[in-house]
Amino acid sequence: MRRKIIAGNWKMNKTGAEAIELAKALKVKSVNIERADMVICPPFTALYQTAEIIKASKIKLGAQNVYWEDSGAFTGEISLPMLKDAGCEYAIIGHSERRQFFGETDETVNRKIQKVTGSDLTAIVCVGETLEQRKAGDTERIINTQISNGFAGITQEQMKRIIIAYEPIWAIGTGMTATPEQAEDVHLFIRNLIKSLYGAAAADMIRIQYGGSVKPDNAAELLSQPDIDGALVGGASLKADAFIEIIKAA
Ligand code: 13P
Repeated sequence: MRRKIIAGNWKMNKTGAEAIELAKALKVKSVNIERADMVICPPFTALYQTAEIIKASKIKLGAQNVYWEDSGAFTGEISLPMLKDAGCEYAIIGHSERRQFFGETDETVNRKIQKVTGSDLTAIVCVGETLEQRKAGDTERIINTQISNGFAGITQEQMKRIIIAYEPIWAIGTGMTATPEQAEDVHLFIRNLIKSLYGAAAADMIRIQYGGSVKPDNAAELLSQPDIDGALVGGASLKADAFIEIIKAA
């Protein structure tokens, strides 16, 4: 039985003070939650403050991005040692917003996965199709390409440090959630793909999150699907009560 994992991607929201306030509220409200792993991913500038608040709680810290070199002349980038130093245990890689607005490709995603899975952090690797691709019946082909290329050269051992987040782009921030059936179909496709690439044990072990307009009122149904092992939550993770409701739905 895979343990569910709910992660909050705060995106470009929350100053240091606002992050402290939200983290404090989450810490208090999550005290009795045992059933799922909880991760929050504040912006880089709030990582230290947030880590300080959640260190004596069950909530883990994640970053929204990472660069594959440890240090050097890479203006504006943040390295893995920096994330570790800030208290991160997770890093989101290849979010569709990074692919769409910041030129991330399957190749850069691959380099980042290589970096993170070679450490003791866990990579949350995002994949997903656009509305046009779904309408054209291309969803599985797109996901196949993103995973086959993104995971090139990744070993079975490294797979233990990977979580996949299926985030259909048309469902992100739109209120247009995938139906539980639509999401389950793709999750099962991904699990079978992992099986063909890494074998049955890896496929059975890997956790696959759903992301895209997950809210307190649709979380339970999505999370009850056999191949949905958690959620990557955007908007609803910015409010303590909504995020805790989603975690409780797991
Ligand atoms: P929303 O939950 O706001 O749709 O965002 C989903 C997402 O992109 C999480 O990474």
